[in-house]
Amino acid sequence: MKVPFLDLSIQHKNLRTPILEAITATYDANRFCLGKDVEDFEKSFASTFGYSHVLGMNSGTSPLHVACMIPGFKPGDEVITSPFTFISSAWGISYVGATPVFADIEDETFNIDPAKLEAAITSKTKGIVVVHLFGQPAKMDEIMAIAKKHNLFVIEDCAQAVGARYKGTSVGAIGDCGTFSFYPTKNLAGCGEGGAFVSKHEKVHTQARQIRVHGSDKRYYHDIIGGNFRMDGFQAAALCVKLPHLESWTKRRQTIAASYRSGINKTDIVLPKEVSYGASVYHQFTIKHPTRDLLRAHLSNCEIGTDLIYPVPLHLQKCYEGLGYTKGAFPKSEVTADTCVSLPIFPELTDAQVEHVIHSINRF
Ligand SMILES: Cc1ncc(COP(=O)(O)O)c(C=O)c1O
Repeated sequence: MKVPFLDLSIQHKNLRTPILEAITATYDANRFCLGKDVEDFEKSFASTFGYSHVLGMNSGTSPLHVACMIPGFKPGDEVITSPFTFISSAWGISYVGATPVFADIEDETFNIDPAKLEAAITSKTKGIVVVHLFGQPAKMDEIMAIAKKHNLFVIEDCAQAVGARYKGTSVGAIGDCGTFSFYPTKNLAGCGEGGAFVSKHEKVHTQARQIRVHGSDKRYYHDIIGGNFRMDGFQAAALCVKLPHLESWTKRRQTIAASYRSGINKTDIVLPKEVSYGASVYHQFTIKHPTRDLLRAHLSNCEIGTDLIYPVPLHLQKCYEGLGYTKGAFPKSEVTADTCVSLPIFPELTDAQVEHVIHSINRF
């Protein structure tokens, strides 16, 4: 039985008619950049998750860039993030000329370790980019306490965690701002590129809104340095159709994760830890095994797709050679990168496919 790592075609086949109708209406009204569809999506996204302010943007990288512009991070400033994440978590820091400083993860949750985060703080530290990796909320109480003590601006990278809650509060609503990606592979995805910026602070929201449109509120008057971070109407129209389905899709991801947990019985496989303070929305279900490559080859022979997310931690990426980190700097991230493998987890997987994954792993 074939089990693809991810198959977007089923969801898009199921929603073909309403999405094409919504996009056609946008087309007919010439609402291509921002406009009513984006405003409708922002309102629905805000009310679904309890955000005070939402801004649709053109990717998940853009709001991270905007978030680093708002507090005015500049050359010489240090901003701490996880080395075990997608590269974009650090891009915003680099784009504004500040220095990404890494702090190792807790290996059982894949998220930044608050103790390591605090140990990385220097007199130059100005902010933190917290990543809720694989859909699992990071330890926000501890992180916010550290931020308060050292007066740091907190950006939550929620690209993989839409709908996740930390002690009942939606991720992104705890720090100074939160950022989302609606890239096609995400739990909530457009039909192209998309993202969002959320903030509980009116002032931060106003600044981000200006930055999104070339630093202006009034056409051709530019109060601050901005850029073009606008969401397009087609993406918003598609996202408005998909948003009402997200809760059931998330529940299905959680059911599949529960099946993996109860079904996988090989003792040398390390399962992702379930935390007590919030539920993961399982963007990924990532396990660890000492001979990960052999396990992957075995699963491939069983026609099961897997992925390596992520094979190289950020401090060992070529683009960050100049930061001077060497192998061994962040052992937990490095061991995780060498031993992790992500299993198929998307809402349209059938029970039979999930059983095939479990059975195949247990036979390894
Ligand atoms: C943790 C994380 N942050 C940021 C991003 C960037 O999102 P985008 O690809 O939409 O720019 C991603 C996308 O994969 C991500 O996984």
